[in-house]
Amino acid sequence: MASTPRIAVVVGSTRPTRICREIATWAQTAAQPHSSLRYELVDLAEVGLPFLDEPLMASLQQYEHEHTRAWSRLVTSFAGFLFVLPQYNWGYPAVLKNALDFLYHEWHDKPASFLTYGTRGGNRAAAQLATVLQGLQMRVLDDHLEAVIAKTDVDDDWQLKDVEAILRPNLAQLRKIDIQMTEAVAGC
Ligand SMILES: Cc1cc2nc3c(=O)[nH]c(=O)nc-3n(C[C@H](O)[C@H](O)[C@H](O)COP(=O)(O)O)c2cc1C
Repeated sequence: MASTPRIAVVVGSTRPTRICREIATWAQTAAQPHSSLRYELVDLAEVGLPFLDEPLMASLQQYEHEHTRAWSRLVTSFAGFLFVLPQYNWGYPAVLKNALDFLYHEWHDKPASFLTYGTRGGNRAAAQLATVLQGLQMRVLDDHLEAVIAKTDVDDDWQLKDVEAILRPNLAQLRKIDIQMTEAVAGC
């Protein structure tokens, strides 16, 4: 029997006081019960890549560093990706771009969607990331998710007051993404 396809829920902010991991964990646990896929967190803070330090372009796949080979193995092991990321100054986090740029062929043809968040949902980060994922020849799904995190949703330390309540309105959209991801993985 074929094993369950694994989808990486990539935690795309590594700030020490980030809310990204909590949002990514919500996405992972909310998507899982209805899905035939297995969603797993991949936290870029734990992956711990340096700034791109490979002498050769990733497309040549001649990696000098073990951290690149380990990242390559990890990315290769997943059937699809759900990137979770905040909007930073109308763009997306540099740490995520760095992690993407480390590899090239490993991303090809893998289905991808993303969950952005910000005070207006992170639509500018979403647009930029979609372009880059296309450049990496990923199969960007029709749907993604833009979660609005209002100032009233966070406390004085900018931590989420109630992640379930804040993100619940996005459940239907997450479900649509899971359905598209399932179809895309089946078509691989
Ligand atoms: C460098 C930086 C830039 C930001 N730029 C934006 C922005 O363009 N739009 C927005 O809605 N929020 C912006 N914010 C607020 C973030 O949405 C908020 O801090 C969020 O918690 C960041 O995600 P994180 O805590 O997981 O890193 C910015 C925050 C930081 C740290």
